[in-house]
Amino acid sequence: MLRNSKDSFGLISILFHWIIALIFLGQILLGYLMSRVSDFTLQFSLFQWHKSFGFLVLGLSAVRLLWKAASVSPSNPESMTTIERVGSRIVHAALYGALFIVPLTGWAIASSSPLLIPTYMFNLVVIPSLPLQVSDNAEAFWTASHAYLAYFSATIAALHILAALHHHFWKKDAILTRMLRPSPAPAERR
Ligand code: HEM
Ligand code: HEM
Repeated sequence: MLRNSKDSFGLISILFHWIIALIFLGQILLGYLMSRVSDFTLQFSLFQWHKSFGFLVLGLSAVRLLWKAASVSPSNPESMTTIERVGSRIVHAALYGALFIVPLTGWAIASSSPLLIPTYMFNLVVIPSLPLQVSDNAEAFWTASHAYLAYFSATIAALHILAALHHHFWKKDAILTRMLRPSPAPAERR
């Protein structure tokens, strides 16, 4: 039940999926809100939480990818068309990409900012800066890249969520339920 089988996700993959999904969606909301807060002290503290959770997503995603590489991937139900199979592969790959590229561009903002504010992860670990040019222009470039990529990823995540609901309520297969709890039965008949 801990590991994936050819029909279902195991508990470890399920926990990785939901913990990372929750933090990622929370980060979109936090990022949006913190950039629009006028109280400076509150804004500073929200930025620190945002950076810490962003690094948590990056670290967890790296471990998740290693776990995925060491696991079998559950097969799709026979009822899925070729377009659906290809579409889901592309969307999943894009989401995996987002879990790395979005926090990395965030890290690039912190590393290129002339304010040189040190980055701590949950006030415990100091995160070094990436070796990038430090200037207002570089910071503006990474800020824009981070924002565009974050909102683009949120759009892909929205598509992904709609697809999961479509499988559950329209096609009535077990694609959603196999990501909710481990089960030995094939995806078509749960
Ligand atoms: C899961 C990871 C992350 C997501 C989904 C995310 C998402 C966002 C979003 C949606 C915004 C608001 C953009 C806007 O409306 O202007 C934002 C801003 C920001 N993020 Fe992230 N972020 C992540 C990780 C990080 C990390 C790891 C760092 C730094 C170490 C970071 C640093 C920043 C900074 C400094 C801003 C404010 C930019 C500004 O307006 O000056 N983010 N982020
Ligand atoms: C309410 C929100 C969400 C729902 C209902 C949901 C649902 C699902 C379901 C049902 C699967 C399994 C698909 C299959 O069996 O082929 C899945 C896989 C996946 N989800 Fe989500 N998801 C959500 C949010 C997210 C978010 C926010 C992300 C990342 C930003 C994400 C990334 C992924 C990835 C990368 C996979 C592929 C897992 C693998 O096969 O290795 N999901 N999701």
